[in-house]
Amino acid sequence: MQRIPEEKIDEIRSQVDIVDVVGNYVQLKKQGRNYTGLCPFHGEKTPSFSVSPEKQIFHCFGCGKGGNVFSFLMQIDGLSFVESVKKVADLAHIPLDVAISQGDSSPGNKPDSQESKMIEIHQLASKLYHYLLMETEEGQEALQYLLDRGMSEQELDHFEIGFAPAHASTVTTFLKKREVDLALAVESGLLTERDDGEVVDRFRNRIMFPIKNDRGQLVGFSGRLFNQEDGPKYLNSPETPIFNKRNILYHFSDARQEIRKKEEILLLEGYMDVISSVSATFSNGVASMGTSLTEEHVQMIRRVTNRAIICYDGDRAGIEASFKAGTMLAEQHRLEVFVLQLPNGKDPDDFIRSEGAEKFAEIYTHQRLTWTAFKLQFFKRNRNLQNETDKIAYLGEALAEIGKLDQAVERELYLKQLGSEFDLSMEALKQQLQQTVVVKPKPHDYGGPPPESYGEYPSYEGDGGPVYEQFSFAQPSGVPSAGLTSEKRLLKYMLEDRDAFIQIRNLLEEHQTDFYHDNYKALYTHLIGFYASGNDANPLALMDQLKDDMARNLVSELEMMTVNTDVSIEEYQDYVQSLTKSSIERDIKEKEQALLTATQQGDIPAALELARTITTMRATMKNTPN
Ligand code: UTP
Ligand code: MN
Repeated sequence: MQRIPEEKIDEIRSQVDIVDVVGNYVQLKKQGRNYTGLCPFHGEKTPSFSVSPEKQIFHCFGCGKGGNVFSFLMQIDGLSFVESVKKVADLAHIPLDVAISQGDSSPGNKPDSQESKMIEIHQLASKLYHYLLMETEEGQEALQYLLDRGMSEQELDHFEIGFAPAHASTVTTFLKKREVDLALAVESGLLTERDDGEVVDRFRNRIMFPIKNDRGQLVGFSGRLFNQEDGPKYLNSPETPIFNKRNILYHFSDARQEIRKKEEILLLEGYMDVISSVSATFSNGVASMGTSLTEEHVQMIRRVTNRAIICYDGDRAGIEASFKAGTMLAEQHRLEVFVLQLPNGKDPDDFIRSEGAEKFAEIYTHQRLTWTAFKLQFFKRNRNLQNETDKIAYLGEALAEIGKLDQAVERELYLKQLGSEFDLSMEALKQQLQQTVVVKPKPHDYGGPPPESYGEYPSYEGDGGPVYEQFSFAQPSGVPSAGLTSEKRLLKYMLEDRDAFIQIRNLLEEHQTDFYHDNYKALYTHLIGFYASGNDANPLALMDQLKDDMARNLVSELEMMTVNTDVSIEEYQDYVQSLTKSSIERDIKEKEQALLTATQQGDIPAALELARTITTMRATMKNTPN
């Protein structure tokens, strides 16, 4: 692994705010000194995930995970340490010249896993496809097709669009030369095995769109026909260990930052729509891969935002699909939904290329339909409103919809619209509305942060008192709580202050006592090494060095504790004595257990001996001041 100097790492870390980085992945709410949200590492409905801007760390009181900005990116995006430093450097616009080596670019820090190899294979292939499109004679026709459609070279580079030639073995030969495991390439979906056992390219004579997952890893392709009609318009990678359409939204990982900035996501139907929207400054656009929105997609979306703007094709199918997606988002998951309708059945790509980005922006910003407005329009389809029966049925449906609204002002607004549209009086409509059976939507099932539960969320501003203890994941069972609290506090002081470390270490040695829990012990050992190499107290830098997740999680947990900083050596002494005491208590318990066994077995001499020892130990305990 490449080494980046520690000063550089510190510089990079200090140039970003962890709240901004985490905020791209988790909706955060200010809560006292910290920000809280739903933990992205485990499923939960009420937030126990905390980010501290002061300490620049995150910690989840639910699952115990914690760390600094680098550990966050490593875990959420499956990056190596170096990659995460590079990513933060890019965010902070700090030049950092490190080449990410192959062994380094690995999901879940497992450089040799089958999955990371499959991703590497895709990266190799994508570079090849892109090169073939941009630089070769073979790619000329495909390139011309894309340019004719109005795409710029910049866009082609940005989305790394490529070309798969018509031969059976362009990629196969390329991978063979690089000694790539072809069986794995087949399993990854890039190549296929013919009946006769020969391995060949899956994608042929197609324009290639590389597909990344939500961590930004290249996991599949979609190849578009361009000069003939044989086969599906888009051929997608098959389901593989790394590729599952159900949880892929095209451009999602790259859209994250813009989604957060605009506080809304733009849902589109196709890749070309995404690409055009990006060029029209709507980089918050994503598309599912020819499937309707899945439950998995919704989960991905609502982690980052509460508002979705649906802009599907303006044709009939697109409108039906908008209804389906909107129902799922607005009614099942309580997101705020708007729908954009493009004229003349156009899709966003057609529209932007023919009418221009400004026109699109105008519709996006000023002509978005609220979910209710969209539905009022949607219910008109398949109806002839000149016909009385149809009209009455429509009004019934429309009123039921309006009745679902919580706000009187909103109800009034839509009623007025209906009134003027159908020339009906407000009184008549209101009366009708009262008679309409109203099915109120279910209460919040956590479609976005319900403010109430944020309010209920316990505060961790205390000093590790009862609330804290109750939520502390790392608390091992069967241990006297006084001992645990002392361990926590001692470690916390040692983490944050070099002098405190020296004093406490001396006390521990003097009393011949040590931490009891393995992860506390491990952290203490790390601290000894950390200070021995001449470092000043620096919990953030220490986290970078901790390869052991448990130890790092403990650091973030301790960092989240607030303790009195004005401490005397006597206080340290008290805590150390409390460690000693708990250790004696544990010994006594053990001896008592042995005494019981000895008595049951009739081993009288052993029992007497044990009883005597226990008495002495109890006496020592009494003499140990608290
Ligand atoms: P469209 O047919 O609307 O294509 O399919 P498009 O995105 O507008 O592309 P162009 O403008 O014709 O080039 C919308 C999306 O549905 C999926 C793709 O994800 C596509 O972007 N799709 C479509 C498939 O997966 N397979 C197909 O055969 C067709
Ligand atoms: Mn299109």
